[in-house]
Amino acid sequence: MNNLPKKTMYTLGAVIFLVSLFLMLYYGKETFYMENQTASSQQIYDYHFALITEEVGNEYWRLIENGAKEEAGKHNVYLEYVGPRKSDKEEKLHTIDRMISSKVDGIITQGIPGEAFKELVHKAVERGIDVITVDTDVPDSDRQVYVGTDNYQAGFLAGKALLNDTSGVVNVGIVTGSLDALNQQERIAGFKDALQMADRVRLVDIEESNITEIGAAQAAYSLLKDHPDINALFGTSALDGVGIVQGIEEIHLPEHPYIVGFDILPQTVELIEQGKIDATITQFPMEMGRLSVRYMIDLQQEKVIPTLQNTETSIIRNQDIKNGEVITKGDQS
Ligand code: BGC
Repeated sequence: MNNLPKKTMYTLGAVIFLVSLFLMLYYGKETFYMENQTASSQQIYDYHFALITEEVGNEYWRLIENGAKEEAGKHNVYLEYVGPRKSDKEEKLHTIDRMISSKVDGIITQGIPGEAFKELVHKAVERGIDVITVDTDVPDSDRQVYVGTDNYQAGFLAGKALLNDTSGVVNVGIVTGSLDALNQQERIAGFKDALQMADRVRLVDIEESNITEIGAAQAAYSLLKDHPDINALFGTSALDGVGIVQGIEEIHLPEHPYIVGFDILPQTVELIEQGKIDATITQFPMEMGRLSVRYMIDLQQEKVIPTLQNTETSIIRNQDIKNGEVITKGDQS
């Protein structure tokens, strides 16, 4: 280097300087341009809410999500729909905690049994994050509002439907989403209380479906294998009725058992029209989603809202359906 003439060294230095300056300006501009672009295309939302589901892909929860997103869209709310791929209590709790850490304005979540849930709700509320339970309540938590079915009452209605639609001795098997879920426990409690009204009806056994259709098919199959005297089945979550029908088709029973299911997802409605399910209990998940977002906005604006916001429920039978559509409000008493 020492041997290079001074002029060449100055020229080289100038070239390196100019190239660096060019690169700095060019990439600097690109970076700022990108940032500006992001900022201008990014919508500024008034609120950020998290909707924590039991299972992201579940058809029933997708309806809650649709209702919530529709309402969020109307009020400039950013709604994040999160939860486990397959129902998993620990993952749900972890998701609630993660949403608290990311400082969302409100959490709408299914109620989960146990102390861990109550502690998380307490933590959220202490940090100024409002909490609404949807679909399943935990009344002794710090949640501000519950939006959803009165699950005890819904179970009671299922029991009444069975008493009304059957005669003679009835031995009942229950297929339930999960013995651990509060809403399923409440539905079973209501159902059992309704059965108390008749001596001719007896509850024989209960099996879990893990809220899947295949799980319900297996549960129904094993209930009927273990208790051949079962002549009625009650499915307590959205896919249980459909699964029960599959399960009994495997067995070839001499007589079709009486079946009462839950929810009005299209497949269940279709099976009622085909005479394979006798009745189902309605829930309005879209409405639950809409109302939860609406009340969450009210909470943000410090409005006072009655804690219990029960959506409607009724019994739907064949006569309430036409061409795959539920056309009446059903039997509400
Ligand atoms: C229940 C939900 C459950 C779903 C499962 C519904 O009847 O209300 O809690 O996640 O069934 O498919």
